[in-house]
Amino acid sequence: MINIIPRPQFVEEHLGEFNVTRDTTVYADDRLVFARDKLIDAVENACGFRLHVAVTKKADICFIVDPHIAKEGYVLEADTEKMTIRASNIAGAFYAVQSFRQITLADILDAPEMLSMHAVKIVDEPRYAYRGLLFDEARYFHGADTVKTLLDMMALYKLNVLHWHLTDNEGWRIEIKKYPELIDIGSHRRGSQNLSWGNKSIDWTEHDGFYTQTEIKEIVAYAARLNIMIVPEIDMPAHMGAAIAAYPWLSCANVHMPVPIIHGATPETNGIGDVIACAGKETTYKFIYDVIDELAALFPAPYFHIGGDEAPKKEWKKCPYCQKTIQDEGLKDEEDLQGYFNNKIAVYLQRKGKRMIGWNEILKASKLENSVIAEYWTPQKDAAVEEYLEAGKNVIIAKHQAFYFDMPYAQNRLKTTYGFTPEKYGINAGKDGILGMEGTLWTEWISTEERIWFQVFPRMQALSEVAWTDEKLRNYKDFAARLKRMLPLFDKAGLGFCPVSMWNPKNPFKRARTLRAFYKSNAHIEYNRAILIQKRRRYKF
Ligand code: ACM
Ligand code: ZN
Repeated sequence: MINIIPRPQFVEEHLGEFNVTRDTTVYADDRLVFARDKLIDAVENACGFRLHVAVTKKADICFIVDPHIAKEGYVLEADTEKMTIRASNIAGAFYAVQSFRQITLADILDAPEMLSMHAVKIVDEPRYAYRGLLFDEARYFHGADTVKTLLDMMALYKLNVLHWHLTDNEGWRIEIKKYPELIDIGSHRRGSQNLSWGNKSIDWTEHDGFYTQTEIKEIVAYAARLNIMIVPEIDMPAHMGAAIAAYPWLSCANVHMPVPIIHGATPETNGIGDVIACAGKETTYKFIYDVIDELAALFPAPYFHIGGDEAPKKEWKKCPYCQKTIQDEGLKDEEDLQGYFNNKIAVYLQRKGKRMIGWNEILKASKLENSVIAEYWTPQKDAAVEEYLEAGKNVIIAKHQAFYFDMPYAQNRLKTTYGFTPEKYGINAGKDGILGMEGTLWTEWISTEERIWFQVFPRMQALSEVAWTDEKLRNYKDFAARLKRMLPLFDKAGLGFCPVSMWNPKNPFKRARTLRAFYKSNAHIEYNRAILIQKRRRYKF
């Protein structure tokens, strides 16, 4: 199989080779000039020379607009004389260039005088429109350079959404001009729980960091040039500890507290107990609308993520404002109060031309705006997701067991990620409503860039094939073979990679031990083992 990940939908290899040399000329229809320039840059990066631009279709390489080709799809044909790339838009032509970069990878590594590839016909388009990766910078702020490297790699593997988790209990990472304390207070914390959810150890190194709006605009534009849209997430009404530390009036009972240093998923372990934004006070809604106003101007994506996960209801049960809202609005209970809260935000977002996305807990409410998209993450099966799809609504899939890239390989083996199908998780009906797939990179235990690459490569590649390639064409052995041929690329780029021997841990006792340690005592043992392997093997990570 030709060395491309994600595997194209159709490939036919022919005898002969197409060579790109110093003398090769390249033409593009006006609308595809951007993709032509990407190809010229890629060849220059590999060989050190720039291809000549031609003004007629007699050129050796031609980019041609073909309106019949699907959005993001492309047709790439090469014989011994000529290479033609057809697409209906820049995204498709850009992806043809990514395929070309991967096919010629072996050459690129040798800094050659020319690039050559088999004569070939590729007809390709994505299975799913939404192919995402979540990056959590609330727990650890990593900064623009890391984000850009992540975006570069996402583009090479044809992922097109960065879901940017910018706020949580442990930090608020984006400047909001109307609420300066979100940064002055909310972007700093005194220390970090540093070993595991079940281990009280604290590293008392201060941690802080945030993006100015100018920096955000620059990263959004950088992503757009890679055909990636950035969907911001402002998690609410729970996971708002950093915002509440900055503005205590956001909580039901005006709770004064520092930015939490404990990571945790439940009220018992999250360091802020049941503290949550009040869903009864008008000031909360005013705050959220103001934040959305500023963010809508920075992120042109037609989606906005409001989190909505893991929201404890204890404070709402005691709060006069929340209880009055339940009465006044005739709501059934606190779950429906969250539904009321979500619907108000969804309507506000709709007016800005945006669809709201929330984690699947938002489906507990009895009524949701039709435009709302549910993102299915919970390890437990949630029948509400299947019902939502059956009702013709939209879902994105980020199932914990397959797509949580922060988890040890002992838990989420590469084969499990690669082998994902909706049916395996009980989604049998209404599959047309599935917009796509998303991997998540939560960073409670990921404070360094090296660790990011260990967790994400090669899971990102597996995700990309699940989201792009038709199920019947997927084959793990074939995928792994292609992947292994690409590993030198990571060495060359100075990027880490999970060692091959750790992709699919087998021993059930060792796996159970690693997982127990991950949750109870030390979330780093698998990575520490990988560092030892790195010292013995040739692949860096
Ligand atoms: C989540 O992992 N709480 C979405
Ligand atoms: Zn309240």
